Amino acid sequence: LDNGLALTPPMGWNDWNAFGCNVSEQLVEQTADKIVSSGLAAAGYQYVNIDDCWLTHSRDADGNLVPDPVKFPDGIKGVADYVHSKGLKLGIYETAGTLTCAGYPGSLGHEQQDADSFAAWGVDYLKYDNCNNQGVPDQTRYQAMGDALAKTGRPIVYSLCSWGDDSVASWGGSVGNLWRTTGDISASYSSMLSIFHQNVGLTAGAKPGAWNDPDMLEVGNGMTQTEDRSEFSLWAEMAAPLISGTDLRTASADTLAIYANKDVIAVDQDSLGKQATEVSSAGGLDVLAKPLADGSVAVTLFNENSAPATISTDAAAVGLGSAKAYTLHDLWSKTTTTTKGVISASVPGHGTVMYRVAGTSKPKQYPPQLTLSSV
Ligand code: GLA
Repeated sequence: LDNGLALTPPMGWNDWNAFGCNVSEQLVEQTADKIVSSGLAAAGYQYVNIDDCWLTHSRDADGNLVPDPVKFPDGIKGVADYVHSKGLKLGIYETAGTLTCAGYPGSLGHEQQDADSFAAWGVDYLKYDNCNNQGVPDQTRYQAMGDALAKTGRPIVYSLCSWGDDSVASWGGSVGNLWRTTGDISASYSSMLSIFHQNVGLTAGAKPGAWNDPDMLEVGNGMTQTEDRSEFSLWAEMAAPLISGTDLRTASADTLAIYANKDVIAVDQDSLGKQATEVSSAGGLDVLAKPLADGSVAVTLFNENSAPATISTDAAAVGLGSAKAYTLHDLWSKTTTTTKGVISASVPGHGTVMYRVAGTSKPKQYPPQLTLSSV
């Protein structure tokens, strides 16, 4: 969506994956504190997002949405003020239906009134879900809220939680800043793999301001560390939003280190804004290539199978044909090697190796007697 927002994929946190309906002001504020103290804010994580179940079950006498006073004693405005005081931004959740997925009042038919509430409370991001939609076409319902948000005049990132329905990948970028391409992720390798497969081919619509959304990250929620790294690498490679779905307050140092990998984040946040294309995928050995603004290419070698395997490609196949030599910077081990063109690695089962590949041309070496100072 051309609203000047989400020029790179949004980064932040959302409570749903780890807490479900157990959301509260305290959780959101403690998480905001942790995002700052852990260095994740400095690494680019910005949006602290409230998911379903923040509401009471009925609107007030004037038809306004009412935050649950037990979960949010200071209202959404109070949380927004707190989150803003930490230099972060606040996200909220609603549904383009009569009820949210968890059964709270939905925004269908109340778009402008609710958008005005969000803007008045200082909300910076709306995740807009798809339950109880009364069979109204997705694009109609999502456009109605998009128009309402635009009328508020407040910059609000607009996230369509449309589950890949109604071919959203073909129109999502004209209506919102990101759109869900699949059903809900869960904290298992098979779920992550299935979502990756559904999202990886949808490269056409991704660009600055408009991103495919393969759902929130499960890093830290129960996959192995190898699998967690694969999810983080693949999501970055696909220019997906990096929205953590774990309890950051209690996350292990290993989990926080995955979320904080600056080199992988730089691939996700690259200003060119291209989603990777799948170069090859024979036998579950995948090669993905994402062109970057400086002319280098992020190459992810992903081994879907449980046995270790060697995965190979070459510079020409990933779109880098013309140099005599290349550097391969490994974005997890941080080692750099050189190659004349072969890009290859031994990859553990369910694992990834992620390289930033750049062509090198050595500067010309003049003999000392021919330098200007000696003439
Ligand atoms: C749907 C969405 C999830 C989450 C829940 C909340 O299932 O896809 O991401 O927001 O609703 O009820």
